[in-house]
Amino acid sequence: MKILDIEKIRADFPILRQSIRGRSLVYLDNAATSQKPRSVIEAIGSYYSEQNANVHRGVHYLSEKATEEVENVRVRVKKFIKAQDHREVIFVRGTTEAINLVAQSYGRAHLQAGDEVMITEMEHHSNIVPWQIVCEEKGARLKVAPIDDAGDLELDLLESLFSKRTRLVALSHISNVLGTINPVKKVIEMAHRYQVPVLIDGAQAVPHMNIDVQDLDCDFYAFSGHKMYGPTGIGVLYGKRGLLEAMPPYQGGGDMIRKVTFEGTEYNDLPYKFEAGTPHIAGIIGLGAAVDYIQGMGLEKIAAHENELLQDATQALQKISGVEIIGKARDRACVLSFVMEGVHPHDVGTIIDQEGVAIRVGHHCAMPLMKRLGVPATARASFAVYNSHEDIQALVHGLRKVREVFGC
Ligand code: ALA
Repeated sequence: MKILDIEKIRADFPILRQSIRGRSLVYLDNAATSQKPRSVIEAIGSYYSEQNANVHRGVHYLSEKATEEVENVRVRVKKFIKAQDHREVIFVRGTTEAINLVAQSYGRAHLQAGDEVMITEMEHHSNIVPWQIVCEEKGARLKVAPIDDAGDLELDLLESLFSKRTRLVALSHISNVLGTINPVKKVIEMAHRYQVPVLIDGAQAVPHMNIDVQDLDCDFYAFSGHKMYGPTGIGVLYGKRGLLEAMPPYQGGGDMIRKVTFEGTEYNDLPYKFEAGTPHIAGIIGLGAAVDYIQGMGLEKIAAHENELLQDATQALQKISGVEIIGKARDRACVLSFVMEGVHPHDVGTIIDQEGVAIRVGHHCAMPLMKRLGVPATARASFAVYNSHEDIQALVHGLRKVREVFGC
């Protein structure tokens, strides 16, 4: 029996009906951004055509309605990630802003000269650079936990990096390059034994697996709407209430205040303390529709289907001579990086684009990881729920074409 009716799911995504360069679109760049179902597109459209008003400010009908919608999405997101309290859900622009918020607020308040922030070798730039900025300002330093050649974290070595000066651990739940599903619960338990809080970059995890922030016991969890079938420009920072309450604001402006005088400002309560300015109301409403869409299918089923695709694609690529898969971690999600002997990944991407297949090539915003792997770049196919086994055949066909063009 089929896990999900993929044809029916594909019909929910208007963009997939398109032909690209005269061929049906095969979209395998989902780790960069996923496509959007009609329900998300329509939720955004109907907000602008029927409800547009600012939130938390007006006494008029439309403003009250928009406020109600936004706060309703907050509660749905709280349930989606199983947070304890809706005030622990902060709307931000995306994962990058969520991590910058923690670095600039928690980091600036807690780091002193000589302190340490621990990350891993497989982090995306957005979980490296914000820490470098705050460490530089405070005279603190980064410690980098290594990975092995398969792409698994070396947990013993990670543990050996804890010291009395470790103030925070920040790591990805799933690597956007290797697909490694990190044992984040173990890392969190370990860090908590040293009284160190943990931030999880969940950008690649939230669309693919159930997240229970209370079970993980993470201190912060960051994710983006646009990788989970929602709009760009909206994301979420989850933080434990006690930590968020003790943190200074990140940005100043409207909505984040209770009282302002020229002498000083009293800040608003959570979550508004961290939501200065008019929020991305349409984005929040679209995010709510994306959460509903995912829950309608069920993350277990999504994960099972995507795992089948990953197995299928892995086997198919292993049969193409000269193709080497990069990332062979024990536990992997639906991201498949590879290199092709004698062909630069950019050429791979360009040639298979002519066949209507969209993949990402490059360093994937993880230049230090490329250095660790000893490659300048990789080609990367990444899957979403609407991908099919036919998409993998198209990828294989495209890669054979690359071999033909390069005569190898
Ligand atoms: N972080 C995104 C990716 O891996 C943009 O493609």
